[in-house]
Amino acid sequence: MQNLADDPRIHVIDHPMVQHKLTILRDKNTGSKKFRELARELAMFEAYEATRHFELTETTVETPICEARSYTLKGKKVAIIPILRAGLGMVEGVVDLIPAARVGHIGLYRDPTTHQPVTYYCKLPSDISEREVLIVDPMLATGGSASAAIGYLREAGARSVRLLVIIAAPEGLRVVLDADPDVEVFTCCIDDHLNENAYIVPGLGDAGDRIFGTR
Ligand code: PRP
Ligand code: URA
Repeated sequence: MQNLADDPRIHVIDHPMVQHKLTILRDKNTGSKKFRELARELAMFEAYEATRHFELTETTVETPICEARSYTLKGKKVAIIPILRAGLGMVEGVVDLIPAARVGHIGLYRDPTTHQPVTYYCKLPSDISEREVLIVDPMLATGGSASAAIGYLREAGARSVRLLVIIAAPEGLRVVLDADPDVEVFTCCIDDHLNENAYIVPGLGDAGDRIFGTR
C-alpha cells in the first residue's frame, strides 16, 4: 500500500486563499448562508486545479490593438456529479467555472449505525463515457459514499474520474484510492482521523446539515 503523502493521485490545494476560506468554513459559528458561499467558492478553486490537464488548441483573436496568438479549450465535455445532499453545495462553484457542464446526481446517505452508504437515486448523463467526470462532495470520511459513487460511474462507462472534496480523512482516501487505481482526488485538506461516529476530526461537523440548515 502506497504512503498517502507519496501518492500522486492526491492533490491538496494549499493556496492561501483556500486555506483562509477553509478556516471560516470549519468555524462552528459560521452560519448556513456563509457556509454555502464558502463551499461554492472552494469548489471553484478545486475545479480550477482539477481541470489543469485540459488540452488547448492554438487560435488567434483580434484585440483592439492587433491580432494575438491565443488558446481555447480543445472541447472537453464535463459532467459534474454531486453526491446528494451535501455535494449540491459545490455544484454552482464548478458550474461558475465550466458553464457548459452537464450535471448528474447520485443520491447516497450513510446509515447512521453501520456508516455504510445507502443509495436512493442515480441519474447520469447518457454520454458519461465521453465526459471528464468531476464528482463533488465536501466530506470524504470512511470513503464508503465516494467509493460507491465511483463504482456507479465506472459501471456506467466513465473513464476519466476526479473526486473533489473539501476535507478528506486519511482512512477515506485509502479506501477510495485502493478501490480505484485511476481516480484522482482533490482536497483542501487531509485531516487527522475519524472519531467513533465516523466523523472527520477536526473536520467541520455535518456538511449537509450546515449547508441546508437542518438539525
Ligand atoms: C456525508 C458527506 C458524504 C458522506 C461521507 O453525507 O456529504 O457523502 O457523508 O462519509 P463517508 O465517506 O463515510 O461515506 P451524509 O451521508 O451525511 O448525507 P447528506 O449529504 O445527505 O447529509
Ligand atoms: N459526513 C459529514 O458531513 N461530516 C463528517 O465528518 C463525516 C461524514
